[in-house]
Amino acid sequence: MATTCSDLPTSHQKLQGKVALITGGASGIGECTARLFTLHGANVVIADVQDELGVSVASELGADACYIHCDVTNEDDIRKAVDFAVSKFGKLDIMFNNAGIGGEAVPNIMKTSKQDFDQVLSVNLVGPFLGTKHAARVMIPARSGCIITTASVASVIAGAASYPYTCAKHGVVGLTKNASSELGMYGIRVNCISPAGLATPLSTKYMGLTAEEFEATMEEAANLKGIRLKVDDVANAALYLASEDGRFLSGHNLVLDGGFSVVNPSLDIFEEE
Ligand SMILES: NC(=O)c1ccc[n+]([C@@H]2O[C@H](COP(=O)([O-])OP(=O)(O)OC[C@H]3O[C@@H](n4cnc5c(N)ncnc54)[C@H](O)[C@@H]3O)[C@@H](O)[C@H]2O)c1
Repeated sequence: MATTCSDLPTSHQKLQGKVALITGGASGIGECTARLFTLHGANVVIADVQDELGVSVASELGADACYIHCDVTNEDDIRKAVDFAVSKFGKLDIMFNNAGIGGEAVPNIMKTSKQDFDQVLSVNLVGPFLGTKHAARVMIPARSGCIITTASVASVIAGAASYPYTCAKHGVVGLTKNASSELGMYGIRVNCISPAGLATPLSTKYMGLTAEEFEATMEEAANLKGIRLKVDDVANAALYLASEDGRFLSGHNLVLDGGFSVVNPSLDIFEEE
């Protein structure tokens, strides 16, 4: 496994009585978030295409969690996953559109295939659109809810990922803002999280590196030194947005990058001591 999910605090349960649906919950950020949310008292439905892994994570989490096969590019699958969460646990409070793929690691537009563009957009942007749509379907009558999508630092900077990945993640910010604008009147908050690179199966495969090599590469490029971004950090950001702590946040892109995206290193005027 490229990721580890370290022990998480249980002293103060922030999601007691809440129901969450997490796409891409079988691995990486989604898996860690499923663990954290259940530790904080939530019931969690893990939705993924990796059935064996998803079932095994859900069974580890016990009665508080269950698994459903769901390809986020398929509207029927998303509809069924949302309805399953409601029928199993009575409602849906938190929709975490987290499933994603890296696609081909191609920086050159001439070498970018339409097939890769279509596939990455389909999972990373159409998926969150469908997740937001069907979460809204059950949240509007309830007049409350929280929708979160995993974007990326590639939602705010150029040149850090392929064309399809960058376009999809920029699109997630537009989706988030539009949905926040429409759904606010129903008490529904809509936000996204934009992490910098962290070691998960998606990123290590994309870069063709081991987890250690990937983290070392990210550390070298980082603005904030001495800290490596972990899945736990992203799960904690999702917990913040999903809980009462984030009760007045909506339409926000929570950039979790240690200041990476605010720095232009080509204008480095500070000399090292
Ligand atoms: N790892 C990083 O460096 C990084 C940085 C920024 C953003 N992200 C984003 O974080 C999210 C989670 O990725 P991760 O890094 O945890 O990778 P991961 O590969 O560990 O997890 C992604 C999960 O999504 C699932 N998935 C893929 N296609 C799917 C589909 N069509 N339907 C349902 N599930 C599907 C996979 O099976 C997998 O379980 C993605 O949206 C990714 O773009 C990752």
